[in-house]
Order: sequence, then structure tokens, then C-alpha cells
Amino acid sequence: MDNQAYPLPSSLFPLANALSNGIALHRDGQVLFANKAFSQLTGYAPDDLAKLDFWALFPPEVQAEARQRERLGPDDEPVPARYEALVQTRQGEARWVELSLSQQAVQGIATTLCILVDITDRKRAEEALRRVHTDLEAQVENRTAELQQAKASLEDDIARREGAELELLKRYAELTELNCLLHETQQQLVQSEKLASIGQLAAGVAHEINNPIGYVSSNIRSLQDYITRLFQVLDVYQATEAALPDAARARIDKIKHEADFDYLRDDIHELIRESAEGTERVRKIVQDLRDFSRSDTAQQWQAADLHMGLDSTLNIASNEIKYRADVVREYGAIPLVECLPSQLNQVFMNLFVNAAQSIPDGRRGTLSVRTGHAGEQVWIEVEDDGCGIPSETLDRIFDPFFTTKPVGKGTGLGLSLSYGIIQKHHGKITASSTPGSGTLFRITLPVHQPAEPGTPE
Ligand SMILES: Nc1ncnc2c1ncn2[C@@H]1O[C@H](COP(=O)(O)OP(=O)(O)OP(=O)(O)O)[C@@H](O)[C@H]1O
Ligand SMILES: [Mg+2]
Repeated sequence: MDNQAYPLPSSLFPLANALSNGIALHRDGQVLFANKAFSQLTGYAPDDLAKLDFWALFPPEVQAEARQRERLGPDDEPVPARYEALVQTRQGEARWVELSLSQQAVQGIATTLCILVDITDRKRAEEALRRVHTDLEAQVENRTAELQQAKASLEDDIARREGAELELLKRYAELTELNCLLHETQQQLVQSEKLASIGQLAAGVAHEINNPIGYVSSNIRSLQDYITRLFQVLDVYQATEAALPDAARARIDKIKHEADFDYLRDDIHELIRESAEGTERVRKIVQDLRDFSRSDTAQQWQAADLHMGLDSTLNIASNEIKYRADVVREYGAIPLVECLPSQLNQVFMNLFVNAAQSIPDGRRGTLSVRTGHAGEQVWIEVEDDGCGIPSETLDRIFDPFFTTKPVGKGTGLGLSLSYGIIQKHHGKITASSTPGSGTLFRITLPVHQPAEPGTPE
């Protein structure tokens, strides 16, 4: 077929060949006319086209629809159709085209006009764009996934850190508690070490003093007896004085006068009484020192009613207390306590006397004695509303020989003795005080001593 072929008027050929879009006319698949651009696009020379089925150039779905259109009658409204399709060129290359089909009656013959526009470049650009778009989407997705992963691991990290922080806080609290315990244990250790060394010293001193004070007080007692007897003899002599000659009587009177006999007679008893009192006080101190050094062997561990001990001690101390304070007892229900009762009484005595002595002259105070029971422990509180203890000395009150009382009134052994006794009972004694308001001593004791209570030394 050449371009002059039927049915297009030859005058239109140059015009049709000058167009850049491909144009072809076919009838029932037989190509009647094709312009240059059509040949170039499909790669088929016009003669080859004439031998081809026009539809063989296009994919089946395009064919099917286009054929249906061709079946429309000539009176039917022509329906222009436009497709994008891939055509296979003669050289085997696939090219994208935009295909417009319309029914045309050319010189009275029904034909199909086909206009082809090469859109391969646009399609490639679109494809590239789509690929870029897809790539971009994939990248965004990747990035989002990465971000989500990072977020998740960050959240994990935060959770782990929070956990670690909690653990750290817990550890810190445990350590603080441990530190407090350590501090308390250390204090107790220092205190018991002090007591142990002072105990040895006290035992030595007590031993050294015990002997001389023993014979001094025994001698004083003998002296008292001798003097009484001597004065009885003197009385007999004095009764016979009146019968003596004047000269002898005058001599006796002179000697009596020079010796201040009447004064001597009165004063000698006072001197001996004071000496006896002094040695008694020394004996008491020695006794305290011996208790302090735990040299007491006479004690038996027994289950005792502490209320009885408190009451009897309050009675014994009543002379010290009654002019200074009212006693308020707030006893709880407590079980019998395994203890060395007389040693505990010593502790109570010292606390009561200290409390009474803390109340300033000129006003009446209150001495409260309370007891209670918690689990395997009983507690005893002795509280006064006296002068209190300044915080700088509160740490020292359990030290042996620490006293703020005038000489002769306190040895400073009471509380260190008490501390030793309570320790022997596996208990605790603590003091708290507000200067000017009063002092509270609290003792806690186990109801039962541990499996093998230390036998009293
Ligand atoms: N209830 C209290 N109120 C105020 N101070 C107190 C009280 N108990 C003890 N103290 C202080 O503690 C010191 C030591 O007391 P501790 O009983 O050991 O010895 P002391 O009473 O001075 O002498 P001792 O008991 O040997 O007669 C006292 O001198 C006093 O300063
Ligand atoms: Mg005391």
C-alpha cells in the first residue's frame, strides 16, 4: 500500500505526512491508509502495514473494546475513544502510545480513524516519578519504622532507668537504715567497752579499798564500844571525886579544865558517829563499784513481777521523793520477767532518786512511772518534769563518774551501773530530755532471756 491508496484524496497526503502524530485508517482491521509518523512509530513500512491485521499491533483489551465500538451502526452517535496502550514495534521495542479511535465515513466508506501519539517519554517520566515516589514512600516507611524502633528502645531505656532509679532509692533507704543501725551499734560498743575497762579498774579499786575500810569501820565500832566503857569507868571516878581531899580535887578540876573535858565528852560521840557515817558512805561506794564490776555472785535469775519491784523501790526511795514530787503510776498488764530482781531494783532506785533530785527547789514536780508490753518485750518508763539534761551532756550521762551533782551528793555511778545491769539483761536503756521541761528514761527488757542466759558473774 502507498499513501496514494484508496480512500483518502491524494491532495491530503502531504498534509497527513507532515503531522507528527501517527494517523491510520482501517476497515475491519485492514489498514487503508497510514501516514509517515504512524510508520515510524510502529516500525512497519506502509506496505507491511497493509498486510497486517491492524489490531495485532495492540493489546487484546484495547482490541476488544475498539471492536465493540466499530459495531455501532452508521446512524449511531460516533463515540470517540481514547486509550493508553503499549504497542510492540516491528523491531520488538515496546512503546507507549495514546490511541484515539473514531468512526469516520470517508468518501462514503465506513472506516476507523486511528490517531497515535507517542507518549513513551511521558510514561517513562511518570514511571520514574512513580518509582521516586515509591522509593520515597518506602524511605518514609523505613524512617518511620526506624523512628518507632528508636522510640520503643528509648521508652525501654526510660523504663529501665526509672527501674534503676527506684532500685537506687530503695538501696539508698536500706543503706541509710543500715547506717543508723551501725551508728547505734557502734555507740553501744563504745559504751560497753568503756564499761568493761572501767569495770576492771573499779574491781581493782574496790578490792583495794574494801580491806582497809573493813577494818576502819570495825575499829570505829570497837572504838565506840571502848569509849562508852571508858566513860562508864570515868563516871564511877567522878562519883567518888567529892570524897577526895581538896588538893587532889583541885588538881583533877585543873586538868579537866585544861583538857576541855566536858566538850570532849560531848564531841567524841559526834566524831565517832560522823566517822562511822563516812565509812558507811565509802562502804556504799565500794559496794556500787563491786556491782558495777559485776562481782556480785549472790543473784539468781527468776521470773519476777516488775510492778512489785517498782513499788517496793518507790517505798524505799520515798524519803527522797515525797518532799519533791507526786508519783503517778500508769502500769500496763505485763508478764513476769526473767531477771535479777534486786539488780533491776537498783536501776529503778537510781532513776527515781535522779528524777526527784532533778526537780528544782521551790516547786513540786511529778514523777511518772509507766509500764507496758509489746511482743516479747516489756518496757518501763520513768519520767520527771525536772530541770532536764542539756543536749551536750545527754551523751555522757551513762559514763562512769559523770555527775553534775555536788561532791558528796552523787558519785556519777548510778546510770553507768544501771546501763551495765540492763545490758546484762539483754535489754536497752535510753534517755531523752528537753532542758527545762523534764527527762524520760525508757527501759526495754526481754520477757525471757536468750537460750543460755549468762550466769551472773
Ligand atoms: N532525771 C534526770 N534529770 C536531770 N538530770 C539527770 C537525770 N538523771 C541523770 N541526770 C544527770 O546525769 C548525771 C549522771 O547520773 P547518775 O545517776 O549516773 O549519777 P548521779 O546521780 O550524779 O550520782 P549517783 O547516782 O552515783 O548518786 C547526773 O549527775 C545528772 O546530771
Ligand atoms: Mg544517780
